[in-house]
Amino acid sequence: MRDEFLDPAPVTEHEEADEVGLRPKRLAEFVGQRELKEHLSIVLEAAKMRGQAADHLLLAGPPGLGKTSMAGIVAAEMGVHLHITSGPALERAGDLAAILTKLEDGDVLFIDEIHRLSRSVEEILYPAMEDFQLDIVVGKGPAASSIRLSLPRFTLVGATTRTGMITGPLRDRFGLVARLDYYADDELESIVRRAAGILKVTIATEAAWEIAKRSRGTPRIANRLLRRVRDFAEVRGDGTVTEATAHEGLRVFGVDERGLDKVDRAILGAICKQFHGGPVGLSTLAISVGEQPETVEDMYEPFLIQQGMIARTPRGRIAMAAAYEHLGLAPPAGGQHPGLFD
Ligand SMILES: Nc1ncnc2c1ncn2[C@@H]1O[C@H](COP(=O)(O)OP(=O)(O)O)[C@@H](O)[C@H]1O
Ligand SMILES: [Mg+2]
Repeated sequence: MRDEFLDPAPVTEHEEADEVGLRPKRLAEFVGQRELKEHLSIVLEAAKMRGQAADHLLLAGPPGLGKTSMAGIVAAEMGVHLHITSGPALERAGDLAAILTKLEDGDVLFIDEIHRLSRSVEEILYPAMEDFQLDIVVGKGPAASSIRLSLPRFTLVGATTRTGMITGPLRDRFGLVARLDYYADDELESIVRRAAGILKVTIATEAAWEIAKRSRGTPRIANRLLRRVRDFAEVRGDGTVTEATAHEGLRVFGVDERGLDKVDRAILGAICKQFHGGPVGLSTLAISVGEQPETVEDMYEPFLIQQGMIARTPRGRIAMAAAYEHLGLAPPAGGQHPGLFD
């Protein structure tokens, strides 16, 4: 079985449903990301004062850091409806047109995975974002003509795990582009306590702290570990999450002290051992751990890079001293990566 519960993406529909209850609904409930919250509160306040829709907002960052939550918050703070769709769901221009024509004045349209929009859909999005106009082509061939419809003023919130894959023209049409960063341990600790409150779980401070430290900077993982530890506490104890139950529960579920899972450790092991510290290309690395290159690149690498365990170089991925240390291996003799600077 694949070790799924450290995967930063939501894994099941059931979990999606669980997450809805734990999502922060207002800006004040959203823990961390201080700079983004500050910018956003100014932008939203100003828009409200002018009685206008807020500027379009692009949120970038690894999965599970709060992009979808933030889209909901923008709508709630502005007191408007939220419409949710995603890049892959909008196959044809008509799919987007159908959604755009349903919007009311000031509404928020959230497009998840916006980097996966097709060219033809992206092209009708430009005038919609810029001039609130929708160009629809009717008929085919020489008889085809285009109709222009006026749209209500709306706010587009786009989310992407890949800023590099957003085209320049699309990016330029967002008034605010924000990057979400991994959360600090103390922020994750308050996220765990907040979730424990909502789930009515009694949790010791040390236990919340332990879960926070092993959540790889990601609120979704923090909440997931909390639920698993709660299950463990209910089955093996009286349901109270003490420091000991947290430790034991996390151990049972195979989460190591830095929150790395099997796939992370396989990636580190492959670079350190099989490829002698690298550099190794992404696709070769992905094959050797049995994952898709995109999965390795989007879900696993960012955290390993942020932790200083691996690095990307023009020639491929390399292991850093911290990777050897984490695996309990001796770093290669003669210093790191003799081939790197030749
Ligand atoms: N800043 C935050 N404060 C509190 N909880 C958060 C925060 N960010 C994310 N979460 C929690 O993590 C879960 C996943 O967040 P989500 O917005 O779905 O992330 P993304 O869309 O970036 O993958 C949410 O259900 C929520 O419970
Ligand atoms: Mg999301």
